[in-house]
Amino acid sequence: MERRYFIRWMTLSALASLLPPTLSACDSGETPPTPSSNNSPDIDTSMGEDGFQALGTIPQLEAQGTILDRRNAPKSVLIFRHPDTQAIVALNPMCTHQGCTVELSADENRFQCPCHGSQFGLDGAVLSPPAEKPLPYFEVKQEGDLILVKAQ
Ligand code: FES
Repeated sequence: MERRYFIRWMTLSALASLLPPTLSACDSGETPPTPSSNNSPDIDTSMGEDGFQALGTIPQLEAQGTILDRRNAPKSVLIFRHPDTQAIVALNPMCTHQGCTVELSADENRFQCPCHGSQFGLDGAVLSPPAEKPLPYFEVKQEGDLILVKAQ
């Protein structure tokens, strides 16, 4: 065997020896987590003829405080109870400035964007720029324990 073929063969052999750990890491059977999403995986989320889609349950909302569903991203849906009215509210949590996901403030009376500091009221209205447009709201209805949202 010529020297250059031997070196190529050794290089390929060395690379091949790295494959099993790489392949086993890919085949661990684990699904990568969806950061920040806490939607319920065990409900039928197919869309009804009226355009509403079940995205969570009342017990889930009571247990978690919020439901963040990213299945329809970029039209993600954040569901929460308005602290004053106790009404179930759903809005798109993507900041209207550049699309970061807003977060509920510690006192739960506004949303804050972690990227450039925009703030929004619980009704989605802009309280503090640089965002100029409000967070879009979605229609919500409740059927039994299901929370249905018209996000399309
Ligand atoms: S992306 Fe939210 S303030 Fe810039």
